[in-house]
Amino acid sequence: MRLFPRLLRLKIMFVGRHFVFCKCTALLSLRILLLVPAGLPVQTQGDSQSDKNIMDNITVRQGETVFLRCTQGEIVTHTAWLNRSSILYAGDEKWSVDPRVSLVTLNQEEFTIKIENVAMTDEGQYVCAVQTSRRPTTNVVHVHVQVPPKIINLSRDIVVNEGANVTVLCQANGKPQPSVSWKLISSSGDLATDDEYLEIPSITRHRAGTYECTAVNDIDTDTETIDITVNYAPTVSDGRDIGVTLGQRGVLECEADAVPEADFEWYKDDRRFINGFDGMEIVNTGSLSKLTFFNVSDGHYGNYTCVAINKLGSSNTSFVMYVVIEPTSATLFQGPRAVQDGSGSTLGVQLDICLLFIVFLPFLLKF
Ligand SMILES: *[C@@H]1O[C@H](CO)[C@@H](O)[C@H](O)[C@H]1NC(C)=O
Ligand SMILES: *[C@@H]1O[C@H](CO)[C@@H](O)[C@H](O)[C@H]1NC(C)=O
Ligand SMILES: *[C@@H]1O[C@H](CO)[C@@H](O)[C@H](O)[C@H]1NC(C)=O
Ligand SMILES: *[C@@H]1O[C@H](CO)[C@@H](O)[C@H](O)[C@H]1NC(C)=O
Ligand SMILES: *[C@@H]1O[C@H](CO)[C@@H](O)[C@H](O)[C@H]1NC(C)=O
Ligand SMILES: *[C@@H]1O[C@H](CO)[C@@H](O)[C@H](O)[C@H]1NC(C)=O
Ligand SMILES: *[C@@H]1O[C@H](CO)[C@@H](O)[C@H](O)[C@H]1NC(C)=O
Repeated sequence: MRLFPRLLRLKIMFVGRHFVFCKCTALLSLRILLLVPAGLPVQTQGDSQSDKNIMDNITVRQGETVFLRCTQGEIVTHTAWLNRSSILYAGDEKWSVDPRVSLVTLNQEEFTIKIENVAMTDEGQYVCAVQTSRRPTTNVVHVHVQVPPKIINLSRDIVVNEGANVTVLCQANGKPQPSVSWKLISSSGDLATDDEYLEIPSITRHRAGTYECTAVNDIDTDTETIDITVNYAPTVSDGRDIGVTLGQRGVLECEADAVPEADFEWYKDDRRFINGFDGMEIVNTGSLSKLTFFNVSDGHYGNYTCVAINKLGSSNTSFVMYVVIEPTSATLFQGPRAVQDGSGSTLGVQLDICLLFIVFLPFLLKF
């Protein structure tokens, strides 16, 4: 019965010293009201009479467990752990309603509690208040909570037309505050920036691709990527004229660079070709369109135009498909002259004989 009021008085002492500037929780107020009989003299204690120990700061990652350890050494009568000014534990009695807080050790040497699944809001000053037979001591420890970087606000994939001014954003949080950077990773482009905002004025097709945002702090790294698609009008590569022998297979190839991919149209003179018509076939595979004639006939020779079209524009090129006379044994033997002009050949033979005669005339005259 003699011990009980002393214990109360000590609790009030702790409360008196640490609760002066705080908004007490309802629970705490209730406990104090219940514990303090009216008229009980409340012992007050000046700061001059207590020792204050600053302990090493503790750094803990979000989600981990932190142990708050306080050495006691002397004959301890009462002891408490406080978060700012709320009592977490008074001796082995738990005052905190937080289930993450629990007692680890309480004996003459040490008083240790732990906080599991540490959150950002747990950061701050914790105090171990010890009442020994001689004087009260407060041990102050700062808990710093580290949070790995997390990208919280990232622009979506975008599709723009060439020439547009592009701005994309990547915001990250974490503790310490992470630094954010952007990099073009899909092509050899060396575009990079050390900022939350990536600004690309008047974007070109060469700057299209996958961009990576990286958020880094002392603890970890977070990365995300976005795709920037740049649309542009088609450009067809120059058509290559082809020679085809009558009755053979003929292929015209038309290649277009475009985003989005181009649609192709084929014309002969002003007539549009429709697939599967007149013994020919059009096959489009991505950027390439092939017009195939399975059996070239006289009517197929001529000038063809390939037109590549997307929503940003069009481009065209023309090809000439010309006749190639298949070399036969006869044409090889006679040479091109025989094909060109039959009437000249008899004259040629006569000339040759004349030449021979002139060359050999001096020898003939010697005999
Ligand atoms: C401990 O943390 C407090 C609060 O952030 C700071 O003021 C103090 O300088 C730190 N002490 C050490 C030794 O880092
Ligand atoms: C410590 O106090 C802060 C502020 O009142 C609170 O948000 C936090 O949850 C408390 N942490 C513990 C472990 O009691
Ligand atoms: C993301 O950033 C945009 C642009 O600054 C802003 O309007 C939006 O509110 C941000 N969203 C979040 C969740 O922070
Ligand atoms: C891009 O920005 C420049 C400079 O601010 C401006 O002059 C131009 O008109 C913008 N272009 C487009 C397509 O908005
Ligand atoms: C090509 O067409 C000609 C004339 O129409 C025909 O005589 C010939 O047999 C055809 N050749 C093939 C391989 O189909
Ligand atoms: C083929 O046709 C295109 C368009 O009609 C024209 O520009 C081009 O000069 C023609 N080529 C030849 C060799 O006739
Ligand atoms: C081909 O392109 C030229 C200009 O490059 C244009 O004048 C012409 O009309 C185009 N032809 C077709 C069939 O689209």
